[in-house]
Amino acid sequence: MALKTLIPWIPTLVLLHLPVISPSSFTYPAVFNFGDSNSDTGGLAAGVAFPVGAPNGETYFNKPSGRFCDGRLIIDFLMDSMDLPYLNAYLDSIGAPSFRTGCNFATGGATILPANAASLSPFSFGVQVAQFIRFKARVLELLGKDKKLQKILPSEDYFRDGLYSFDVGQNDLDGAFYSKSEDQVAAFIPTILSEFEAGVERLYNEGARSLWIHGMGPLGCLPRIIATFGRDASKLDQFGCVSSHNRAAKLFNSQLHALCAKLGSQFPQVCVTYVDIFAIKLNLIANFSQLGKFFEYLKAGCGVRKKNLHAFINCTTILRSAFNLKNIF
Ligand SMILES: *[C@@H]1O[C@H](CO)[C@@H](O)[C@H](O)[C@H]1NC(C)=O
Ligand SMILES: *[C@@H]1O[C@H](CO)[C@@H](O)[C@H](O)[C@H]1NC(C)=O
Repeated sequence: MALKTLIPWIPTLVLLHLPVISPSSFTYPAVFNFGDSNSDTGGLAAGVAFPVGAPNGETYFNKPSGRFCDGRLIIDFLMDSMDLPYLNAYLDSIGAPSFRTGCNFATGGATILPANAASLSPFSFGVQVAQFIRFKARVLELLGKDKKLQKILPSEDYFRDGLYSFDVGQNDLDGAFYSKSEDQVAAFIPTILSEFEAGVERLYNEGARSLWIHGMGPLGCLPRIIATFGRDASKLDQFGCVSSHNRAAKLFNSQLHALCAKLGSQFPQVCVTYVDIFAIKLNLIANFSQLGKFFEYLKAGCGVRKKNLHAFINCTTILRSAFNLKNIF
């Protein structure tokens, strides 16, 4: 089956008759996730002992949970919507984590392109894919020895029937802007995406058939980016976000979307869902006043206690109202 584009709950876009996932079709036995801090549920914290301290975790888990967020992440709501437990990080070996219904290879700071000495996470996308391949081989080997391990490990068919989700690339563009002009960043995007494509193909060769691919959010709206690149008002768009970064994110997304379509036609047994995270998050930013008691949207929203950044907005509430996942699926 070919490409599905998911743009949840934005009425104008739904009217364009884009196919939308129906509740009954959205159920998978397991999820294997790849990415960066947008979906890291403890990988970087475990992998390089990165201190993800308070206030992360304070509104939902009541303590830091390895997430770069004080509430839950989209991936958590996604798991909830399928009544599956939250994903454990591949690198987290303490506390006998169960990987029965999936495994999370995402690590904060990860890039698609290979990491270098300056990278926050050494576990770039290619490494995450390699970790998955080892994970799968070990699972099959262990299940062959002891069926009782099915309680904590995915069964063999879960690797075929599971959902493979991706949210990665933001750090590649983010980092590139520190040493490249906008045109150079734009010219760099195909290189980044061909590395992504190579990784996805390796997963396909391992049996991945259902791909759930997040586009990039509005990078230029991140408070840190605005603080660094948006001091001059002429650099900002009508939302107060840095125009160059958002243009690059959109260009990335259009090429990623084209790649999704290509994967769908190249591999007929593959179902690719492209999720327009940019539209979802920009709607949240543009329409913040209708989506909760928010009166500031270009300052860090939740739990960050630094000068110029707000500390009093509840991230759980933001995510719930923004994504309203229980109602989509
Ligand atoms: C944030 O919202 C959630 C859900 O509405 C609630 O359970 C939690 O107590 C809130 N946290 C704070 C710090 O207000
Ligand atoms: C904000 O909401 C309005 C009304 O629902 C919608 O037409 C518009 O597209 C939204 N803005 C963005 C940037 O999504």
